[in-house]
Amino acid sequence: MSDTFEDQPPQAPGQRWDARQYADHADFVPKLGGDVFDLLAAQPGERILDLGCGDGALTERIGKVGAEVVGVDASEEMIEAALARGVDARRIDAYQLPFDQEFDAVFSNAALHWMLDPQTVLACIKRALKPGGRFVAEFGGHGNVAAICTALIASLQFRGISAKHRHPWYFPTVEEYAHLLETVGFKVDSIELIARPTKLPTGMANWLDTFASPFFHGLDDDIKETVMDNTLNLLSHSLSDGQGHWSADYVRLRVTAHLPTA
Ligand code: BEZ
Repeated sequence: MSDTFEDQPPQAPGQRWDARQYADHADFVPKLGGDVFDLLAAQPGERILDLGCGDGALTERIGKVGAEVVGVDASEEMIEAALARGVDARRIDAYQLPFDQEFDAVFSNAALHWMLDPQTVLACIKRALKPGGRFVAEFGGHGNVAAICTALIASLQFRGISAKHRHPWYFPTVEEYAHLLETVGFKVDSIELIARPTKLPTGMANWLDTFASPFFHGLDDDIKETVMDNTLNLLSHSLSDGQGHWSADYVRLRVTAHLPTA
């Protein structure tokens, strides 16, 4: 774990966020955020921070309830897409949240697994919340996209390339994340892992292009192509129905926690 906020890369090396690509291949992400949105139970007049807001689809939904919502994301591209929806969206990375006891709730969907120093992120979330404020989040938990990770790592290794510094995601167990929350000063209200195999409307190659570019970072195009082909071939046995329909082996960690009132 890091002691300082400054030495955290705001985005995983090699990860590109393209709002058009996201809209074409990943619009299921906010669409499947309905359960964690319901869990937030935003109230009119509440001030809510949407951490890792992406293109602002859920930020907009929270605002429609009548809450005063601020979306933050490390990607300039995604913030531009969120601003185009008319929401209050700001380019700020999670390690540098400038907020101090301002929010009734911090919400996050499908973002926290990109942040490899979770203790620092939780400390920033804590500081952003008013006393008694709540934290409601869903992200990749232990076992998330395990087949995809294994196929990527095996395909890289087959070409003699180590995946050690390429794996860009944090997928904690329930015990690990609950412990972290308590260490930072939260009281955990609910925390669970939920297996959620997820249909990929535009297939696995597009999912890998949209989300897994750190695994391919710096590779020559021909090597990238063979690693990609090998990965798809390995995955076709478990994540494709053989008729071109792909799914991803998602496992969500869904959590609600709150700060003491004083
Ligand atoms: C997820 O939402 O679980 C996820 C998305 C992209 C990459 C890895 C995990």
